[in-house]
Amino acid sequence: MSDARLDPPLSMPTYAVRAPLARWLGAEAARAGADLGPYRLLDVGCGEMPYLTLFQPHVREVVGMDTWDNPRASLRGVIESIPADDASFDVVLCAQVLEHVDDPAQGIRELARVTRPGGRVLLSTHGAMVYHPNPVDLWRWTGAGLDRLFRTNGDWGSVTVSAGSGTASSLAMLNAIYLEHVLRRTPLRVVRGPIVGLLNRAARALDRRVAQLRDERPGTIAANYHVVAERAA
Ligand SMILES: C[S@@+](CC[C@H](N)C(=O)[O-])C[C@H]1O[C@@H](n2cnc3c(N)ncnc32)[C@H](O)[C@@H]1O
Repeated sequence: MSDARLDPPLSMPTYAVRAPLARWLGAEAARAGADLGPYRLLDVGCGEMPYLTLFQPHVREVVGMDTWDNPRASLRGVIESIPADDASFDVVLCAQVLEHVDDPAQGIRELARVTRPGGRVLLSTHGAMVYHPNPVDLWRWTGAGLDRLFRTNGDWGSVTVSAGSGTASSLAMLNAIYLEHVLRRTPLRVVRGPIVGLLNRAARALDRRVAQLRDERPGTIAANYHVVAERAA
């Protein structure tokens, strides 16, 4: 499971979310190390901590938090009320959690509270995705909406929101999810991997070629967003 998250194959229906997310987190983990030195990391809604190996070379401590009795988490709580002191972490990771929380605005204020001045939050969440309760699935964003959510909650020095993948890749992902479901029930199940792989490869090539498919503008769609929010020093 963890390896597929770190190096997702093109045959994975959610490639358009997983591959850019792993690439972005690897780059941000290293950039935080270069900027801040060995850092104290909080992973909010840590789940299986699939990205731990990306951060390990750059951290002095990793603290996981989850809402349930997760063996990976030393803190138990919700993002809306994080059981940690003010400014107690250099970097806070919150990957694919925000769509599941009751009160995203309060969650963002809490991320700001526990991040030290000069530190940063790395957050990812969905733009367009199928409904996936875990145990609930409540929200979707646009890039502009996520930017506003951060800027109106918490004292941030800078906020940068970027789409994880372009319009063609995001549409390919949504189609691939259903295609996979259908093919799995037919004799074509043995070729569903190559078919999804072909779809993802073609969409990725199209997004690379056509700039209008990549940036947020009227008519575009993004499966996932990446946010870097820095606290002023
Ligand atoms: C889709 S999983 C993501 C897990 C992990 N961050 C990852 O990237 O694989 C969502 C996680 O958010 C946690 N979660 C759900 N609601 C939460 C809340 N209100 N506060 C903090 N974590 C929450 C779930 O328990 C689960 O571990």
